Amino acid sequence: MIPQHVAIIMDGNGRWAKMRGRPRFFGHIRGSAQVREIVREAKRQGIKALTLYAFSTENWKRPEDELTVIWKLLRKYIRREVKELDQNKVKLHVIGEIGRIPEGARAELLQAVEKLSVHEEFHLTFALSYGSRTEWVSAAKQMAEDCKLGKLQPQDISESVIDQYLWTSCLGRLSDVDLVIRTSGELRMSNFLLWQACYAEFDFPQTLWPDYTVEEFRKSLERYQTRERRLGGLTK
Ligand code: FPP
Repeated sequence: MIPQHVAIIMDGNGRWAKMRGRPRFFGHIRGSAQVREIVREAKRQGIKALTLYAFSTENWKRPEDELTVIWKLLRKYIRREVKELDQNKVKLHVIGEIGRIPEGARAELLQAVEKLSVHEEFHLTFALSYGSRTEWVSAAKQMAEDCKLGKLQPQDISESVIDQYLWTSCLGRLSDVDLVIRTSGELRMSNFLLWQACYAEFDFPQTLWPDYTVEEFRKSLERYQTRERRLGGLTK
């Protein structure tokens, strides 16, 4: 079975550049070119939702010039791709602390989100200034607020109610992740979709993100297909 929702931690841009004696941002430039290829392939494969961890809450600690490059690349991606995304009926989402995204990039992103909001066929989500714990804190505050206002009763809080308060509620029934891929051989979740990936399968290719080609992506999907997903139950 093809996974419905794939989430990717695009890791290894810095090491890829360093191995070539180039500055880290060079890796991000190559990495953003890979984003385009993988998005296209995900749609071709029949995946319904692709979530990309492009910037974590911890990434704010990076040097200013590296941050500038990352936001520039995102804007460039949006400008260059919005037409094709529209033709391919891709709906765009941004999850994370949207208010912290620099104003120019934020405005362009939100404009693209608005333009593509009519689509339903494929959901592309950028996790930006995203962290699972921050997402939970935000959900808890909102639930407490709604309880205070009488819109929510504490006894009615259930897993599906919590789903509705998380940033991924924009994905509706697709919010649970089937497959998490982290490139570069690191074996960590790094605060990414911890609630949503609760029953996900994991794939940790050694390849650094700028080298993670469509072929490599297909291999990740093939490995997923060999897994037996029991979701806590028993094999028949
Ligand atoms: C992780 O590699 C990568 C990031 C923190 C940034 C990812 C950003 C992009 C791919 C470009 C943004 C563009 C789009 C279109 C989303 P790392 O720098 O942590 O690598 P390292 O672990 O080797 O240092």
